[in-house]
Amino acid sequence: MNAHIRTDNSPTQPCTLIIFGVTGHLSINKLLPALYHLEASDRLPEDVTILGFGRRDWSDEQWADQVLEEIKKHARGGLNEAVFQRFRQRLHFQKGDLSQEQSFKDMKQRLEQGEAFHHNHIFYLAIRPQDYNFAIKNLVVSGLHNEDNGYCRLVIEKPFGHDLESSEVLNTQLHKNFREEQLYRIDHYLGKDTVQNILVFRFANLLLEPLWNRNYIDHVQITHAETAGVAGRAHYYDSAGALRDMIQSHLLQLLALVAMEPPAHLDANALRDEKVKVLRSIRPISRNAVNVHAFRAQYASGQIEGEKVPGYLEEGYVAPNSTTETFAAMKLYVDNWRWKGVPFYLRTGKRMEADNFLVSIRFKRPPQQLFKDTALEQIEPDWIFLNIQPEESLRIEMQVKKAGLELETQTTQLEASSCDKTQKIDAYEALLLEVMEGDQSQFLRFDEVSWAWQIVDPVLRSWMDEQDYIHTYPAGTWGPEISSRLFDSNDQFWRNKLEHSICDKD
Ligand code: BG6
Repeated sequence: MNAHIRTDNSPTQPCTLIIFGVTGHLSINKLLPALYHLEASDRLPEDVTILGFGRRDWSDEQWADQVLEEIKKHARGGLNEAVFQRFRQRLHFQKGDLSQEQSFKDMKQRLEQGEAFHHNHIFYLAIRPQDYNFAIKNLVVSGLHNEDNGYCRLVIEKPFGHDLESSEVLNTQLHKNFREEQLYRIDHYLGKDTVQNILVFRFANLLLEPLWNRNYIDHVQITHAETAGVAGRAHYYDSAGALRDMIQSHLLQLLALVAMEPPAHLDANALRDEKVKVLRSIRPISRNAVNVHAFRAQYASGQIEGEKVPGYLEEGYVAPNSTTETFAAMKLYVDNWRWKGVPFYLRTGKRMEADNFLVSIRFKRPPQQLFKDTALEQIEPDWIFLNIQPEESLRIEMQVKKAGLELETQTTQLEASSCDKTQKIDAYEALLLEVMEGDQSQFLRFDEVSWAWQIVDPVLRSWMDEQDYIHTYPAGTWGPEISSRLFDSNDQFWRNKLEHSICDKD
């Protein structure tokens, strides 16, 4: 399972990484810290130059000073001055406006003439989706997209479009001037170590494979919960909502990894082919079944870790009567040989009680006859948990007999975890290196994106038509109880969080 495990001899050619949107949330909180951490761990190849593109009137030095202030806030274990001095040598700033052709021509001239820059270019679109149009058009008009002297790669953040139709328009626009090999549609969850661990767990442990199907599994839950609210991103989030922001991308990717068949190889296309097979097997939700399959809600004010926090409607840049969902849950069926009839429940929410990303797989109950007429008539089912974050762990809940004369059971746990936090690398660190290496396996092919939109589109359309009312939940809870209406049977319930990892003992 080492298709994505890098060695120190990874084939990275010298390149210039151009970041659009350097003052935005993504650049500040994720991209620049990731690049700094790569520098700190000696993983950032020597010949990589970084050019920030933005409207501010900054010199290279002034931008580097800004970056320093941000890195101070985000550096793991605090800022290392010597590392930052090294990192700073790579930083350059280009003043420009995304909507102006001239800005791109000026940038091209600088890239071609400046000695610091390399002819391989990676353009990272860390900008609002509504600005993609300008950026792509101006890259083409200025000729920056062509690959005469070196490669040109484009990294495009999610959401890729805001529904099926707009994603197709964007894709067509890109393909007029870019080859598929130049496009890196990013879903940062695919860069998480723990998400890759799902593949290892499933395909490196033979004992699970015979159980991994409709004969033994009752249902699967995928829960993503975060305590943070919209965190200053409401101008984007209020027109996106949780279904677009998390389910269409990250949670459906997770579902595909949990449900897919073993790929023939671990190369980009083999992996993506298998994920697509799962996504296209998902039963479409008809318009009149939306309420049976989907649920939405919005956080009201409440308390997070003892602190009072405002409700969604009180956040800056949120429309006063907004019915944008900050919590969304769905029930999906994968209509294929392996999974027919097994519900997959997906749930995500902001301002929840705890930060947690958990895949919970519930097994069916064993045949009861053996314990008929004993205290064990209702045996608890077994569960497998894949905890993605904050702790990475893999846990099995099983039943054992309680000591004593009576035939009684208790639930006990087997846990396999990698507790070594020193080796952890952030998803953006891994993915930035992969773009530099030209490895597309952890990036999305358009058919994955398109099938994912087809799954959520009917729900989005229905919610758009129903803007009068939305359920609410107090911040700091696990969302409204009523979301349990999605469950197929009375003995199904949400699993929220795993207590007491074996890593806590360290
Ligand atoms: C992003 C979403 O893609 O993922 C955010 O836009 C969300 O709204 C974030 O908070 C969660 O990512 P992580 O890595 O912090 O779990």
